[in-house]
Amino acid sequence: MEHHGNRVNFGSKLGAILAAAGSAVGLGNIWRFPYETGNHGGAAFILIYLGCILLFGLPIMMAEFVIGRRSKASTGGAYEKLAPGTHWKWVGYLGVLTGFLILGYYSVVAGWTLEYLFQAVTGGFAHKDAAGFIQMFTQFSQDPFRPLLWLFIFMFMTHLVIVRGVKDGIEKSSKVLMPILFILVIVLGICSVMLPGAEKGINFLLNPDFSKVNADVFLGAMGQAFFSLSLGMGCLSTYASYFGKETRLGHTALSVGVIDTLVAVLAGLIIFPAAFSVGIQPDSGPSLIFITLPNVFQLAFGDMPFVAAACSAAFYLLLALAALTSTISLHEVSTAFLHERFHFTRGRAATLITTGCLIIGIVSSLALGEWSSYTIGGLNMFDALDYLTAKVMLPVAGMLAAIFVGWVLDKKILQEEVTNHGHLKVSYYPLLRFILRYLSPISILMIFLNELGFFK
Ligand code: TRP
Repeated sequence: MEHHGNRVNFGSKLGAILAAAGSAVGLGNIWRFPYETGNHGGAAFILIYLGCILLFGLPIMMAEFVIGRRSKASTGGAYEKLAPGTHWKWVGYLGVLTGFLILGYYSVVAGWTLEYLFQAVTGGFAHKDAAGFIQMFTQFSQDPFRPLLWLFIFMFMTHLVIVRGVKDGIEKSSKVLMPILFILVIVLGICSVMLPGAEKGINFLLNPDFSKVNADVFLGAMGQAFFSLSLGMGCLSTYASYFGKETRLGHTALSVGVIDTLVAVLAGLIIFPAAFSVGIQPDSGPSLIFITLPNVFQLAFGDMPFVAAACSAAFYLLLALAALTSTISLHEVSTAFLHERFHFTRGRAATLITTGCLIIGIVSSLALGEWSSYTIGGLNMFDALDYLTAKVMLPVAGMLAAIFVGWVLDKKILQEEVTNHGHLKVSYYPLLRFILRYLSPISILMIFLNELGFFK
């Protein structure tokens, strides 16, 4: 095991990449990306999304890597170590809070994937039509108890991995789960693209319609970029604190960015051709993959119930695994913070975080049924949490991370980190610094101002 002081590291460079990719690839790619794309008009949204990844996604990932590896502390302590006695520590605390809130509602959806896996395996999808699947989803998601049961189970699984620690828990699980996930996405993508009538879905994904682009599309794409790449709350910076000294930050960021984007686009290729093939609207929101997918498999393989069930089971298994490597990373941010700051054992820290997130999870789950009449700004508490975290807290903290590395941190530190103390030749260093100082903060700011109506 490699140690820096008494701090544990990931065992290998590949382990570091897979853990970070495991954090990035999740419900954000397979559940959130398709419905955001559907709601915002398809290919034009995707183009703007790709722009966001280049303009501030990858650069801010680099910034987080630098902050994490340099400070060797979780995000809650990193800013304090790098800029002692300043207010920057609040950015770290904001990250811990954001992660805590995201984990709460994210685990609810993660729990749904287990219910759907269970239904697929036990034959619950057989003989249902579109109306049947809509009813099934509505009934299930509004039920006061059943989703909570799955939420508990999912949280417990996350908890178990976290308690095992960085190397035996996080790294090992990513190394097993990520390859399975890639195989599943590719197989399902190929199946979906071959369905009759799939071209319409492919068109929707690849032919941009710019008439649908408005301020919300930009805000949506920015939120999605932060959410999908696990940026803006120090999640990847916490993971980077476990990177060894020979891990190449630029190479790792690029790998994670490429993997994450590929999986999102492949998820689109699974869902849209399938949806169009059976005539289901792509803009049905968060329920998209829970209603369309089982229905599509049912219609496509109706006379072979076993195949239909196997496809559905494979898909929801994929989703559950992807979600698990992400909930682990969200959990780690707060657990590591409590562990370092208050010297709790990992077990004790993890128990506190699990309990707190369960409470937020219960509230967001009930917000879709019993408590749907309690709203904030017209959104129920589940949607409000998603909006507040993805579209406000993550971009704000991400912008501050860019400003921190671009303006506050000694530029020697940035150079040392991206070149591994001079061991690597890195030609993009000046460009990265320029982007972090100017392009990233300004473009994020413009998207906010645009949303607030400043450019009308
Ligand atoms: N990126 C993950 C996904 O796409 C979710 C996630 C994990 C996340 N850690 C995060 C989102 C940190 C924002 C910040 O599903």
